[in-house]
Amino acid sequence: MRIVILMGSPRKQDSLNVCKEIELRLGTKNMTYDYIFLKDYEIQDCRGCGLCFKKSEKLCPCRDDLDIIRKKLLEADGIIIATPVYAYQVPSPLKRIIDRMAFLFHRQELVGKPTLIVITSDGGGHKQVGKYMKMTISGWACNLIGIISII
Ligand SMILES: Cc1cc2nc3c(=O)[nH]c(=O)nc-3n(C[C@H](O)[C@H](O)[C@H](O)COP(=O)(O)O)c2cc1C
Repeated sequence: MRIVILMGSPRKQDSLNVCKEIELRLGTKNMTYDYIFLKDYEIQDCRGCGLCFKKSEKLCPCRDDLDIIRKKLLEADGIIIATPVYAYQVPSPLKRIIDRMAFLFHRQELVGKPTLIVITSDGGGHKQVGKYMKMTISGWACNLIGIISII
């Protein structure tokens, strides 16, 4: 199974440690783990034209690395989305790709992908972020298998 791990944090600390622990428990037999540190990709802000969901995502005026991430998600057998809480929301590297992939709410190409959400926080806002991520995953039509929230 190929697990793709979307890392929302701009740093490699708490949420990465939780993912490494999950990796340790799932083991390496027939498993591969592909970490995508979103901070390392060039992802432009959504410009709000709406062409992606009105017509086709191919008409998106942004030219950046989004398709690389999208392809990895498409090819994954399972997805982990790991995020810290930043000011009661997900941090910008993750929010940016959720906005840019808003067309997935209309064309659900990731339908049925088993998806685990990992949230780390200092204890404020993890419920809101859990709810937000749950709605996002449901909009993508992925199969939410759980939310791990660590304070
Ligand atoms: C800019 C910034 C904003 C934060 N906002 C919140 C917050 O609103 N609520 C909270 O509980 N923790 C907040 N935190 C703490 C982080 O969510 C927490 O330390 C988390 O475990 C960091 O995970 P990471 O090491 O994977 O980035 C914030 C941290 C930073 C740097």
